[in-house]
Amino acid sequence: MQNDIQEVLISEEEIQSKVKELGATLSAEYANRNPLVICVLKGAFIFMADLVKNITVPVEMDFMAVSSYGASTKSSGVVKIIKDLDVSVEGREVLIVEDIIDSGLTLSYLIELLENRGAESVRVVTLFDKPSGRKVELEAHYTGFDIPDAFIVGYGLDFAEKYRNLPYIGILKPEVYSS
Ligand code: PRP
Ligand code: MN
Ligand code: MG
Repeated sequence: MQNDIQEVLISEEEIQSKVKELGATLSAEYANRNPLVICVLKGAFIFMADLVKNITVPVEMDFMAVSSYGASTKSSGVVKIIKDLDVSVEGREVLIVEDIIDSGLTLSYLIELLENRGAESVRVVTLFDKPSGRKVELEAHYTGFDIPDAFIVGYGLDFAEKYRNLPYIGILKPEVYSS
């Protein structure tokens, strides 16, 4: 275990088996619908890669980079588009892939944006959900794990751009982000 990690909250094995389960659910839901699967960079990149390998029906993929946290542990509330989609969502069945929902601000912004651009449907799959952090009402259609109110890192989730590469979800030692 890495030195800055206090505790492993969700192991690599638990994550992998949940991702398989979500992949099977989504394969059934999106059969014959040719969905556009959108990865919200950067946090969702590892989940996206593992998830789509477990989706057994045809999908198209695109990537969008947004940021609301910067180098802080708290959401700024302002969502910045850093990279937009390459393709149009008009008339498409869209599935947004997120790593975590906390305040809900990132996703409520994205869902409204994609609906305004004419998507036929917009659904969300998130691997992690922190319901205690909500500032706006928002629920994912598909959720992997509910997470307690702790600052977690790993499996795509960063603190100041670090720890994304951990294959598990860890709780960061408080002295790491309070120093
Ligand atoms: C994190 C996370 C989600 C969002 C969730 O992204 O990956 O996208 O915050 O928080 P919210 O529900 O309070 O909006 P971040 O802005 O840190 O960018 P990153 O994915 O590049 O790390
Ligand atoms: Mn993110
Ligand atoms: Mg981040």
